[in-house]
Amino acid sequence: MAEIDRPRFTWLGHATVRCDLPGGGVMVIDPWVAGNPACPADHKELPRLDAMLITHAHGDHLGDAVELGLKHKPRAVISSYEICTWLEGKGVVNTIGMNVGGTVEGLGVKVSMVRADHSSSFPGNAYGGIASGFVVRLPGGFTFYHAGDTGLFMDMQLIGELYHPELAFLPIDGFYTMEPRLAAHACRLLGVHEVVPIHWGTFPALRGKPEDLTRELAALGYACEVIALSPGGSM
Ligand code: NI
Ligand code: MN
Repeated sequence: MAEIDRPRFTWLGHATVRCDLPGGGVMVIDPWVAGNPACPADHKELPRLDAMLITHAHGDHLGDAVELGLKHKPRAVISSYEICTWLEGKGVVNTIGMNVGGTVEGLGVKVSMVRADHSSSFPGNAYGGIASGFVVRLPGGFTFYHAGDTGLFMDMQLIGELYHPELAFLPIDGFYTMEPRLAAHACRLLGVHEVVPIHWGTFPALRGKPEDLTRELAALGYACEVIALSPGGSM
């Protein structure tokens, strides 16, 4: 059996994940690079950008969506209706403003917007739609989940049953999002056996560490490999 094509993932620090798709396209989830203190200097400039996915309007996720959108004119900018309308007002083109429960296609990959338990606002606490996560399915079938910012919720089990992600990017900071003990339960509910911890280490308030997640998974008795990338690291 041929091995299913996976993207090459590069963690740019915080919640920002760059996916180099097997077809050559570059997709970035939560495009916070220029102002992201965790993003290594040599990764702040993107060689190309074909798609952006934005989980919610907080500045550490919406990030440089306007600047990158105007510069690279990606073919698909996928986010909530509210964020896409706001981006269009700033001149960003090719937006796909969707909502939780929906699936759209961009760059040949299927993107499903799923629940996240979190808030979403633009600067000044202006309403930013609701927060979300994304499930991304590649043409070859490889499927991954980026949770955005979220607490633990039981419907993660449904995300597992409905989309069968093989890999999850989960926040573990324990202040704005799940702490490692909850993230371990998230892995079990999702049924994933590979997890990349994100949203940790950027600021002192974000206390969760990958080794805490490894320990909590062992305590739970759930077999899941913790892939602890450093900012700029790839898998
Ligand atoms: Ni947030
Ligand atoms: Mn955040």
